Amino acid sequence: MRILSGIQSSGVLHVGNYFGMMKPAIELQEQGDAYYFIADYHSMTTITDPDLRRSYTLAAALDFLALGLDPERAVFFRQSDVPEVTELTWMLSTVTPMGLLERCHSFKDKTAKGISPNHGLFAYPVLMAADILIYDSNVVPVGRDQKQHVEVTRDIAIKFNQIYGDVFVIPEVRIREETAVVPGTDGQKMSKSYGNSIDIFSEEKQTRKKIMKMVMDSRPPEEPKPDAEKNTAIQLLKLVAPEDVYAETLDQLRQGGLGYGALKQTLFSHQWACFAEARERRAELAANLDYVESVLQRGAERARATARTVVDRARLACGLD
Ligand code: ADP
Ligand code: TRP
Repeated sequence: MRILSGIQSSGVLHVGNYFGMMKPAIELQEQGDAYYFIADYHSMTTITDPDLRRSYTLAAALDFLALGLDPERAVFFRQSDVPEVTELTWMLSTVTPMGLLERCHSFKDKTAKGISPNHGLFAYPVLMAADILIYDSNVVPVGRDQKQHVEVTRDIAIKFNQIYGDVFVIPEVRIREETAVVPGTDGQKMSKSYGNSIDIFSEEKQTRKKIMKMVMDSRPPEEPKPDAEKNTAIQLLKLVAPEDVYAETLDQLRQGGLGYGALKQTLFSHQWACFAEARERRAELAANLDYVESVLQRGAERARATARTVVDRARLACGLD
């Protein structure tokens, strides 16, 4: 089984990215042949500062390795180190109906927010399809917001196969229901673009501040809260705390007697503890950037070899040989 996923280097990674995509991907690396990459080409659709892109890309590499991606098991690389993917993007774009892309939520959301779309933003899912198809991927672990893009990938692959013969493996999306949409500090989906994210590796003071500023309702501590499960801090606590701590805190909130300040303190301490080990590993990696670069280089070589065989197969099928 080939497993593939990617993450854009367009910002600092947050706990929604971790529980929605990185953790499931890291766990899956035991179960097959995993390919994970940092989507720096995709980041060009939203950021244009070269230094910023470099620093986000490096940070994403450090984050992923610190959180448990094992470069001995998984092939880990930068998307742009495999330029073959842009050639495949072109081939795929010639069989992609405009309407398929016009219906994509991520594109519609961005344009609805007033962002004037460039062609890259519109064609984003085609590059994503190339990312997936170029490695003959079977399974794609992502958070729910990426589901539609994997469906678009399937549609494109099916269309290409109908026209040119059996070229591509048809991939399947893998979503973990419990963490498909991690809420941000305002209760909406956590996202780096909504200002509601808790970053995985931000400073202690900043992390605490972000959590303590979460807005709750105005019910007093003693009032029982039968709807406690809907509380955003409780939902986040469920992800970062041991099961018994979560159950006990939920119970206290339901029965009354636990104030929101104390709840947020509990969330902060478990959030901080949850990533303590990874924080240490990240500091070690940050002090050894040559090693990190060598991991990415080795990953790129392996990824490129696979990509080349699939692009050659596609070229042959299209009469570009
Ligand atoms: P953002 O919304 O912050 O820009 P991305 O779109 O770059 O995040 O998402 C990177 C990966 O993390 C994707 O697989 C996405 O589905 C997942 N992800 C992002 N935010 C969340 C969230 N709040 N809950 C679950 N998964 C998420
Ligand atoms: N679009 C994904 C995100 O926003 C990143 C990505 C690019 C990706 N190519 C992919 C994810 C291929 C899975 C498979 O994070």
